[in-house]
Amino acid sequence: MLEDRDYFVLESPEGFLDPESVFGNRAPLHVEIGSGKGEFLSGYAPLHPDWNFLGFELAEKRIRNILKKLSPQKHPNVRLLRLKVDAGIAELLPPVSVRSVYIQHPDPWPKRRHHKRRLVQPDFLAALATVMEPEAQLHISTDHEEYAHWIGGLLSRQPEFISLQPELIQSAPSLQDHVSTWYEVEQRRQGFEPHYLLFQRI
Ligand SMILES: C[S@@+](CC[C@H](N)C(=O)[O-])C[C@H]1O[C@@H](n2cnc3c(N)ncnc32)[C@H](O)[C@@H]1O
Repeated sequence: MLEDRDYFVLESPEGFLDPESVFGNRAPLHVEIGSGKGEFLSGYAPLHPDWNFLGFELAEKRIRNILKKLSPQKHPNVRLLRLKVDAGIAELLPPVSVRSVYIQHPDPWPKRRHHKRRLVQPDFLAALATVMEPEAQLHISTDHEEYAHWIGGLLSRQPEFISLQPELIQSAPSLQDHVSTWYEVEQRRQGFEPHYLLFQRI
């Protein structure tokens, strides 16, 4: 519904987004990048009513998919921004404002000449580190094995992050109340199992 769109989809802010004015409270801010069809936001946010969730999604079609799964009654702690996230996130979210970041099945751009289009790059991780609180968690999953190793390698070299898992890349999710996203289900159906990474901002 149009009213729901107005409720959930934020205008791109001039300067830093102010989470307190957006959500009307100072609850911990959890950020999902590439929300896709919205399974995570619609399923996970109601399990944590005392946290706020901001979903970034680039594609308008996906924003419409997500809106179909949200209602102001059930998801008062969710908002969306239609935006292509990159290292510019450090100019959008206030420094040290984010409790957790979730990136689930980011586009793998498998061809070597397209690797520069990948979301996870050193400058992006450095920018993410500036917006995350100390001890904030970064959850990443991908069904693409080579991208999982690319992400694990970059994060291991990024001084602001340490892995929280016994194995850098695990086959089981670290979240106890894990919500399977559309891509996770679809890729698994095609035989591509997810790889999970969990890092902490030092
Ligand atoms: C492969 S899909 C995964 C969607 C969802 N996370 C899932 O697991 O089902 C990647 C999603 O990220 C969005 N996306 C890709 N690059 C993005 C970016 N730089 N910023 C925000 N969204 C992005 C795409 O539009 C798409 O919806």
